[in-house]
Amino acid sequence: MERNPSAFLKEEYEELVRNNFDWKLRILETGSSPHSVVDGKEVIMLCSNNYLNLSNHSRIIKEAMDAAKKFGAGSGSVRAIAGTMKLHMEVEKRLAKFKGTESSLIYQTGFAANAGLIPQLVGKGDIIISDELNHGSIIDGVRLTKADRAVYKHCDVGELEKALKDADKKYNRILVITDGVFSMDGDVSPMDKIVDVAVEYGAMTYVDDAHGEGVIGVSLCPVSNPILFNSFLKYFVLSQRFLTCSGSVSNTSIAASCAPATAGGCDPLSNQVLDLFKAKFTRS
Ligand SMILES: Cc1ncc(COP(=O)(O)O)c(C=O)c1O
Repeated sequence: MERNPSAFLKEEYEELVRNNFDWKLRILETGSSPHSVVDGKEVIMLCSNNYLNLSNHSRIIKEAMDAAKKFGAGSGSVRAIAGTMKLHMEVEKRLAKFKGTESSLIYQTGFAANAGLIPQLVGKGDIIISDELNHGSIIDGVRLTKADRAVYKHCDVGELEKALKDADKKYNRILVITDGVFSMDGDVSPMDKIVDVAVEYGAMTYVDDAHGEGVIGVSLCPVSNPILFNSFLKYFVLSQRFLTCSGSVSNTSIAASCAPATAGGCDPLSNQVLDLFKAKFTRS
């Protein structure tokens, strides 16, 4: 049979364009800062993730240059082979201390954390119970598992509890997943209630607080709870994200999950950003 194996891509793209679903990329001509130049026009930037504008902080820029001179522009290998630098270890130790958790683990991106970690936590015979408006990278992470799924109405703890009750007798492990501050509308999940009800049913709670960290104090999530707490340093402007968790989560992640094992890049800025952040939101 004669076929053009990739013709469908062109057709699919043309369909997206016809329906006005294609991204029209805007081109930044400056750094991402409160006043930026986009497509030749001066604009006030209200849609970046650079909430605290730390990417333009003179100390961060200097530290980045110094670190690149000393350590190079990349770690040269994945973490599991020869890419774990002293810098990774230092910053993970400091992050865990800062967040009051046993351990922490840096991932390349938030996407990598969700895609890498979620499939490690649950599998066949388990269930994920997920808020209907969770971020796309969480949805992709969920799709990579062999676990069953249930979706509860946005921020509806009553529905979550019903799903937990249904799941209680049928499944081995239960994983509840929610954004902290939701990425599209900025609404805040009822974290205390979610954690309480999850604990009642012996479920793990996975919180992707990419949009809360740096915006609502240190974090939304009560770190003292016996839960998995996933938080991304999005607003510290690092390219990398981090997870704060128990030691067993970070140990098994390093040993068994693709994402940290294949994390090539080390961000030498991390320590400096943490210092600046600490100065803003102090936690003893
Ligand atoms: C809630 C949430 N999680 C994960 C991500 C992905 O993070 P990253 O850009 O680090 O891949 C985003 C990105 O916007 C997000 O909003």
